[in-house]
Amino acid sequence: MGEALNSWKRTIMCGELREEHIGQKVTVMGWVQRNRNLGGLEFVDLRDRTGILQVVFGEVINKEAFEKANKVRPEYCIAIKGEIIRREAPNNAMATGMVELKGEEIKILSESETPPIYIKDNLDAAENIRLKYRYLDLRRSDMQKILMIRSKTAKAVRDYLVNSEFLEIETPMLTKSTPEGARDYLVPSRNYPGMFYALPQSPQLFKQLLMVSGFDKYFQIVKCFRDEDLRANRQPEFTQIDLEMSFVEQDDVMELNEGLIKHVFKEVGNIDVKLPIRRMPYKEAMEKYGSDKPDLRFGMEIRDLSETVKNAEFKVFQDALENGGSVRAICLKDGANMGRKDIDRLGEFVKTFKAKGLAWIQLKEEEIKSPISKFLKEDELKNIIDVMSAETGDMILIVADKNSVVFQSLGQLRLELAKKYDLIKDKNEFNFCWITEFPLLEYDEEEGRYFAAHHPFTCPMDEDLEYLESDPGRVRAKAYDLVLNGEELGGGSIRIHDTKLQERMFGVLGFTQESAWERFGFLLEAFKFGPPPHGGLAFGFDRMIMFLAGTDNIKDVIAFPKNQNAFCPMTEAPNVADEKQLVELGISLNKEDK
Ligand code: AMO
Ligand code: AMP
Repeated sequence: MGEALNSWKRTIMCGELREEHIGQKVTVMGWVQRNRNLGGLEFVDLRDRTGILQVVFGEVINKEAFEKANKVRPEYCIAIKGEIIRREAPNNAMATGMVELKGEEIKILSESETPPIYIKDNLDAAENIRLKYRYLDLRRSDMQKILMIRSKTAKAVRDYLVNSEFLEIETPMLTKSTPEGARDYLVPSRNYPGMFYALPQSPQLFKQLLMVSGFDKYFQIVKCFRDEDLRANRQPEFTQIDLEMSFVEQDDVMELNEGLIKHVFKEVGNIDVKLPIRRMPYKEAMEKYGSDKPDLRFGMEIRDLSETVKNAEFKVFQDALENGGSVRAICLKDGANMGRKDIDRLGEFVKTFKAKGLAWIQLKEEEIKSPISKFLKEDELKNIIDVMSAETGDMILIVADKNSVVFQSLGQLRLELAKKYDLIKDKNEFNFCWITEFPLLEYDEEEGRYFAAHHPFTCPMDEDLEYLESDPGRVRAKAYDLVLNGEELGGGSIRIHDTKLQERMFGVLGFTQESAWERFGFLLEAFKFGPPPHGGLAFGFDRMIMFLAGTDNIKDVIAFPKNQNAFCPMTEAPNVADEKQLVELGISLNKEDK
């Protein structure tokens, strides 16, 4: 049975009904959340995306409607006409709980089989089942709320940027490899057998070309594609708020984006972001927090003990210092009573980040307990405690190694301890921070050469230009990331617009003239024709929604996401192609792949 609307029009949404509507005739449409029969009364909870309304049909009031209402089942799609009345027993748990709809007519628009997942909040069904029946999963009010937040956020972004005279301009999806450095998604070409388009990892090069064209403020809410290992905050196709500006320097871009963030968080989440957002150079972030995306909602900063222990007769420390590494530590307040098992677990934890061990000092009430006290003189121990500002009851955790290992293992240990000992007190805190002065280049030991840390068009800092060839590792970039509660929300840079400097950069990266032109020729060609100074930034839009919606799973904020294996259980993409399609594309598969 599937009745037609036959000129019925919805007059109001279920979730909007309040006492002020009492006495009004309304028509509502939606899905049956549940229904129950109490003798001569049939109650139907009707749901649409705004909420749930109780409807009552009485056998005495209208026998025909009552009998039809008796036939509905959960998830039937129905339409009801009737009058809003005061509810005899109000339900304070429901927004519409003061009223109910006295059903006078009902249409069953379509029936439903028993759904494979419950349409209710806090569902714990297996993820692949939820994704297979995503359209049902999306009927749940917590998912609907998130997608409404997403839509509202997109509007807030557009409002702000359009008001700031930005133009929204689309860029191609079928294009050439972009410089972000993840693996590309390729699309085979029929017109050019054996050739491929690459889906963009970002619109980076196109937005720079738009600057050359004179569209001096561009933005786009845009899909990007990256074939990389998936995590809780990564999807193979995700969305960026991408923007670029001409005739600006780093401060101008940062200021504009602070305004954007303030507007969006206020508009969507009623969250007040205090401006200006604090700034921290990359070096400080690494030294204090062991991370370029520090979580600043709690302290427990890393401190350097290298100087303090330089004469200690502990081989592990000596080796680290002799090899150019360091000895650093964090202090866990009230950690002195941690038991052996927990300490061992922390030792195992830092080993996953290549630390060779974890030394510790417990400042117990009765004694100082430490496996390395035998290597330390009394004043060395005292100095360590001083440097760490440790007090009785605290625990000091030390790693000695090369700097990259020390930073990563202590940085991760810091986060792990914060989780374990619940050190983040205010769960509603939004702690923003700009990280600036990133290294321009990263050295890859396996390949024995430098890579662009951001991308090859990122501009070096003026004061470091002279070291570009002589000491590339020390050159900092005009690059900036916006970090929120330990997550990278966005990042960008001022770009090189000077051909000479771009050539030097390619030189340092080991690109020959030919290889640079092969990959980015169209951009280099464009830069012959008066490129303006320009720079920009891109936010992870999905990540922004995760914060605004309070979820730590990126799949929750995307209507139709892929699972952890980049597969869509609903459409079953990716899938095999027809033999005919493959022939047209000039593609033949390996026997094993068929
Ligand atoms: P970047 O590569 O840093 O910069 O990307 C910008 C932001 O996009 C988000 N992001 C992701 N979100 C979900 N899933 C992913 N797989 C994923 N990868 C990145 C992050 C990140 O901060 N073109 C430059 C920007 C510029 O220089 O203007 C770029 O793409 O939040
Ligand atoms: P040992 O003398 O081997 O018992 O080591 C004493 C302590 O030093 C143990 O708690 C080890 O976990 C720790 N340790 C070993 N290597 C390191 C390192 N690279 N950094 C910090 N502590 C370490």
